[in-house]
Amino acid sequence: MNPKPRILVARAVFPETLARLEQHFEVEHNQADAAWSRQDLVARLQGKAGAFTTGTERIDADVLAACTDLKVCANMAVGYNNFDLPAMSARKVLGTNTPDVLTETTADFGFALLMATARRIAESEHYLRAGKWTKWSFDMFAGAEVHGSTLGILGMGRIGQGIARRGAHGFGMNVIYHNRSRLTPELEVACKARYVGKEELLRTADHLVLVLPYSAESHHAIGSAELAQMKPTATLVNIARGGIVDDAALAQALREQRIAAAGLDVFEGEPKVHPDLLTVPNVVLTPHIASATVRTRRAMADLAADNLIGFLVHGKPVTPLNPDVLA
Ligand code: DGY
Repeated sequence: MNPKPRILVARAVFPETLARLEQHFEVEHNQADAAWSRQDLVARLQGKAGAFTTGTERIDADVLAACTDLKVCANMAVGYNNFDLPAMSARKVLGTNTPDVLTETTADFGFALLMATARRIAESEHYLRAGKWTKWSFDMFAGAEVHGSTLGILGMGRIGQGIARRGAHGFGMNVIYHNRSRLTPELEVACKARYVGKEELLRTADHLVLVLPYSAESHHAIGSAELAQMKPTATLVNIARGGIVDDAALAQALREQRIAAAGLDVFEGEPKVHPDLLTVPNVVLTPHIASATVRTRRAMADLAADNLIGFLVHGKPVTPLNPDVLA
C-alpha cells in the first residue's frame, strides 16, 4: 500500500476537520495555533504534498522555491491574496479557495456592519457602559437613515450582490454599484442595482460598502482623494481586505468629520490596527469576522478539506483557482 500523502494544517481547525483529513493523510497540525514565522512555515512544509492554509499564510515565490514537495495549498477563505497564483502556476502548485459557502453569511455581516455604523450602535453602547447615560435627549446618537437611502457597492461579486439584494428588497434602498465588469441585465434586475462610474458612486452613495478583492490595482482604492468626494453625511464599510482603504487617511477623514462614520472588519497589516482608528469615536471595528458563524466556518473548513482530498487522493479538486496546473 502506498504511504498516505503528508500534509500540513497551518492553523487550528475544527477537530472533526482534522479527524477527516487524518483518514487520508499523514497530518502535521497546529492545534495550539502557534504563531509561526515564515521560516517555521517553510521548515514544516518540507516533505508535505499539501497545505491547509488560511488568509494569514503567505505562499509566494520564495516559499514555493523552498518547498519543492508542495503540490496544493487549500485556503480556508474565499479571498486568496495570500497566494501568489502566477508563482504557484509556474511551480505547478494548485491553489484552492472556499467560494459560495460563505456568500450569504458574509453579506449578512456586511449589512449588520452598515447598520451598526449608520445607527451608531457601538459608539452609543460604549457611552452607556461608561455610565454616561443620565438622560434622554432629542439628538442623542442621531445617525444616518438606512431604509430608502442610496447604497453604493464597490465590487459586485457574489457577496456584493448579496448585500445589494438585502438593501434593495429588505430596506427599499436605491442600489448603485461599480465593478470591473458590469453584471448581466438579469442579475442587475435581481439585485435592483444600477451600474455607475466610480466617481458617481463616491459622490452619491449614502452608505458605501467595499467588497472588491485586494490586488495591486485595488491597493488604496479608497484614499484621501476618494474620501474627499464622498458626502459629509456618508458612511463607509470595508469587509473586503485591508489595504483597499488607506487607513491613515480614513482615520483623519473621520476625525475631521469629512465623512460621518465607518465600519471596518479588515485592516492594513492586521491584526495590527492603525492607532488613529482606535481613538476616533465614529468607527465600528471588528476583527475580520464577516464569515464567522459556526455553520459557515465549518462549511469553509469542509470545502478546504474536500479540495485537499479531491486533489491529492482523487486528482479532482472542487474549487481550483489555477486550473492550468491540472492540464
Ligand atoms: C475570506 O474568506 O476571504 C474571509 O475574509 C476570511 O478570510
